[in-house]
Amino acid sequence: MKKLLIFSLVIFLVTACTKLGEPTIHPSDWNNPSSENSHMAKIAANGTVGCKSCHGGIEKHDYFGGSSGVSCYQCHAGGPSGHPAFSIWVGSPDNAKFHGNEDKEHCKNCHGDNLTGGIAKVSCCTCHETL
Ligand code: HEC
Ligand code: HEC
Ligand code: HEC
Ligand code: HEC
Repeated sequence: MKKLLIFSLVIFLVTACTKLGEPTIHPSDWNNPSSENSHMAKIAANGTVGCKSCHGGIEKHDYFGGSSGVSCYQCHAGGPSGHPAFSIWVGSPDNAKFHGNEDKEHCKNCHGDNLTGGIAKVSCCTCHETL
């Protein structure tokens, strides 16, 4: 009787585990820019600081993976900004990926309605007198 009980417990545990599978932390459309569940939308609302506890460390620009093992730099050369590498993004206007070639309205999502910082805490006025 006891053996049978242990046996069915094992069966239960095995089936329970295969049914649940690996839990995923983020929503399925986390990388889809047009979804309101995307990581960009989340950042536009709350900034990047909340990502640090799992994706980085205490140093200011440490978004190199942390306990999650997924570095922001893996997909973004510019790191937590989600932008291309600084040398390309701010480097030369001749470059197709130069920031000045992008739609300014889009920048307001994170750099604020008047482009003076917003949740990104980087003001366009640091380098531009007018825009
Ligand atoms: C509680 C811990 C935790 C927090 C907080 C967290 N993440 Fe993650 N994140 C993970 C783990 C663990 C993974 C890898 C497993 C997975 O994909 O669910 C991951 C994976 C990712 C991925 C890769 C998804 C893919 O498709 O490969 C992205 C992008 C990401 N996180 C962005 C963010 C951003 C942006 C924030 C902040 C707004 C954030 N995460 C906050 C734990 C976290
Ligand atoms: C698995 C790949 C992947 C990882 C890892 C990843 N992202 Fe992204 N991220 C994307 C994609 C795809 C986009 C939308 C297309 C684009 O702008 O390149 C995006 C866009 C962004 C944007 C918006 C940029 C803009 O100009 O609109 C931000 C901000 C951003 N990611 C922050 C983060 C942060 C912070 C992390 C780490 C916690 C992270 N990303 C990790 C794939 C990733
Ligand atoms: C680190 C400095 C720096 C920051 C911060 C910066 N820019 Fe620029 N931006 C430049 C440089 C340098 C140029 C090239 C100027 C030139 O060659 O005429 C430029 C050019 C541009 C251009 C092309 C038209 C023009 O005025 O020359 C636009 C549009 C632009 N930036 C928008 C923005 C916006 C929007 C932000 C904030 C979200 C921003 N920039 C933040 C340095 C910066
Ligand atoms: C989804 C949010 C988001 C959007 C949209 C966004 N940015 Fe950013 N940006 C950030 C964050 C966050 C940082 C600061 C990253 C850090 O902490 O170093 C940043 C930093 C920057 C910097 C400083 C250099 C760098 O790469 O760190 C420049 C320049 C810049 N953004 C320009 C722009 C321009 C121009 C646009 C529109 C075309 C734009 N950003 C759109 C989130 C965003």
